[in-house]
Amino acid sequence: MKNKKYHIDTLLVHAENKPEQNRRSTTMPIYQTTAFKYNSSEEISEVFNGEAAGNIYTRISNPTLEILEKKLAVLEDGLGAIVAASGMAAITCAVLTLAKNGDHVVAGNSIFGGTYSFFDKTIREFGIDTAFVDPADAGQFESAIKDNTKAFFIETIGNPKIDVPDIAAIAKIAKKNNVPLIVDSTVTTPYLVRPKDFGANIVIHSTSKFINGHGNSLGGVIIDCGNFDWKDEKYGALSFLIKTRKAVFRDFGACLSPNAAFLTDIGLETLSLRMERHCSNALALAKFLEKHPKVKAVSFPGLADNRFHNPAKKQFNGKFGSLLTFRLKDRRQCFKAIDSLRLAYNLANIGDAKTLVIHPASTLCVEFNDKERENMGVSDDLIRVSVGIEYPDDIIDDFSQALEAI
Ligand SMILES: Cc1ncc(COP(=O)(O)O)c(C=O)c1O
Repeated sequence: MKNKKYHIDTLLVHAENKPEQNRRSTTMPIYQTTAFKYNSSEEISEVFNGEAAGNIYTRISNPTLEILEKKLAVLEDGLGAIVAASGMAAITCAVLTLAKNGDHVVAGNSIFGGTYSFFDKTIREFGIDTAFVDPADAGQFESAIKDNTKAFFIETIGNPKIDVPDIAAIAKIAKKNNVPLIVDSTVTTPYLVRPKDFGANIVIHSTSKFINGHGNSLGGVIIDCGNFDWKDEKYGALSFLIKTRKAVFRDFGACLSPNAAFLTDIGLETLSLRMERHCSNALALAKFLEKHPKVKAVSFPGLADNRFHNPAKKQFNGKFGSLLTFRLKDRRQCFKAIDSLRLAYNLANIGDAKTLVIHPASTLCVEFNDKERENMGVSDDLIRVSVGIEYPDDIIDDFSQALEAI
């Protein structure tokens, strides 16, 4: 099928699905193999030398993974993609391909805690320095740039601050300074936004979340949007994806398993249907919580008076995602409310078909100091909700009875 003319709803089901090339299988074939056999020493040598195309070893590439890579690249209008073992594996490979010992990165200060830690602790030990700035203030990226800045990193919606950067404004600064902009679009997915349309150069997803949609396997992806000139000496003059695959990705063993790719692809087929419901359910729950006398505040860009309503509306195709937070009196009340929920699961994940809740201050963000938590929008009286696709009234009833119980 020709991809260009189809709507995303159709691409999710059909892009890169080629039954005629796969023994008429209508679902993605799983090449559950570690290595690939060649008939002659000459042939395998050519593949190793890059003189002929082919798969060698699944840690580097695999036909099942390639189908998912091509499909995700189509969805983001990218040049190509690399799928990885998790979102963190994708972030690690993308950032370490661009930045080396002595280099510098500028990242939003409200990004997901695991990614924050990666920049703030793990890669500092590799000699890479990160300046954290407020992603809602594009000018701070410009002020933080140094001669050795090799990447900007932002999330489309901060998790769990639920702040929304102006991607185009940050991309403009990145372009002016010849620095690639990496955008983690996990929370929005290609259904809400294609960050490339706003000037992003590399798109990352933790496919463990909405793309998979069913919480059954970890995964991640790096997509090269094809709009950055890697020929610049500063970036090693090689295609970004080739460089990633042939070095950090291969050497860190960050590959996805073909079985996980299969589950991810099955989930991906229904992304648009699920996102519609995720988003409308989240809006309904946010409106309910906003009016509840025991709720101090609700953070959700879908609410008209939310600070990020306009940037979200402009960038996310009229949708607002399904991540929200709300505040009660204190930690004790949060614990009581969470423990009283009957339907929603208390766990450390987002983007599942099921509604998920967590108290970030005592879990995801325990390792951060007060200032860092403040930047991440995490207070002791805050609950994060990833609103699922259940029947909306059932979700609202569940939160209603839990709030009655506190
Ligand atoms: C926005 C965002 N990016 C990246 C990650 C990391 O993904 P993974 O858990 O697949 O490594 C997460 C996980 O929660 C996330 O929320």
